[in-house]
Amino acid sequence: TSHHEDHPLLADPARTPVAVLGAGAMGAGIAQVAAAAGHPVHLVDAQEGAAAKAVDRIRDGLARQVAKGRTGQGDVDALLGQITPLTTSDMTTVPAVALVVEAVVEHLDVKRVIFRQLEQSQSPGTVLATNTSSLSIDAIVREATTGHDAALHGGRSPALQHPGRVLGLHFFNPPPVMRLVEVVRGVRSDPAVLQAAAELVRRWGKTPVLCASTPGFIVNRVARPFYGEAQRMVEEGLVDAATVDLALRRAGFRMGPMELTDLIGQDVNLAVGESVWHQTDEDPRYAPTDYQRALVRDGRLGRKTGRGVFTYEDGRAVDAD
Ligand code: NAI
Repeated sequence: TSHHEDHPLLADPARTPVAVLGAGAMGAGIAQVAAAAGHPVHLVDAQEGAAAKAVDRIRDGLARQVAKGRTGQGDVDALLGQITPLTTSDMTTVPAVALVVEAVVEHLDVKRVIFRQLEQSQSPGTVLATNTSSLSIDAIVREATTGHDAALHGGRSPALQHPGRVLGLHFFNPPPVMRLVEVVRGVRSDPAVLQAAAELVRRWGKTPVLCASTPGFIVNRVARPFYGEAQRMVEEGLVDAATVDLALRRAGFRMGPMELTDLIGQDVNLAVGESVWHQTDEDPRYAPTDYQRALVRDGRLGRKTGRGVFTYEDGRAVDAD
């Protein structure tokens, strides 16, 4: 047993409450994962009714699991009983917890304000995590003299006083299904906190992978050329989209780059690409393609709009191999 296993984060889950901020696609899923592991969970959203609706979505998803015989109604009721929805945009009103996982909109200013409210109200021992997919942990933690948050603080938004307890916990969509969590180390993150958080998500059934807070972390950086080169080859007329996917699938990848970006959403995938590219001073290795920009401009966002690279009918691509 190593020292970090004494961290308060790793105490009995029933006495280790968690707050999840933002009850969207990711927040609801993360709340479900924490509740399934036995933590009392406060699920917080600024929008009236959003947290309660997220609990309804979790209930519906679990009802399908019960129908398939994968879980029992008793376990589902116990899980749902762990989650308390809360509507507020003032994070100083969030109850005292051991861990906060922030999963609100991907805006640096919004996250900076929230972390400063948490610092005012949560004890210094509370671990503060962000599920950001593209923002720097260091940018959330440090002083800032521009942006909405700085304006709120009279032109100078303060650095956090306890940056050691801040880290990234980057879940993948949907959190109850996807096994990976990137545990993201800011310059100031305390190694004991990182180790404890990694052990915690391991106990939640996930595979934690430690990484530095560099653009795209691991997955979204390594995957950029996978998508981009496929799009460039199609753009250059060297191959068609269905053939690229077939080739990569037969070469051992679970999905081809084209069908995968249709699943993620071309708009969501382009936004991640733009973010990595800008953060690397427009390194051409990560440059978004005209091909993907055109898809987004034409509203061909992927499965969710019925058409992306491929055309979908009843959830199946009709023009893929
Ligand atoms: P979403 O748009 O589905 O949900 C965001 C929720 O946050 C909404 O319910 C909104 O009402 C709420 N919200 C906005 N501002 C708020 C505030 N100031 N206080 C409290 N609640 C507020 O977004 P999604 O997709 O769940 O993403 C959330 C975070 O997770 C983002 O940082 C995103 O980059 C990250 N992420 C998203 C992934 C994805 O595939 N969607 C994957 C991994 C990370």
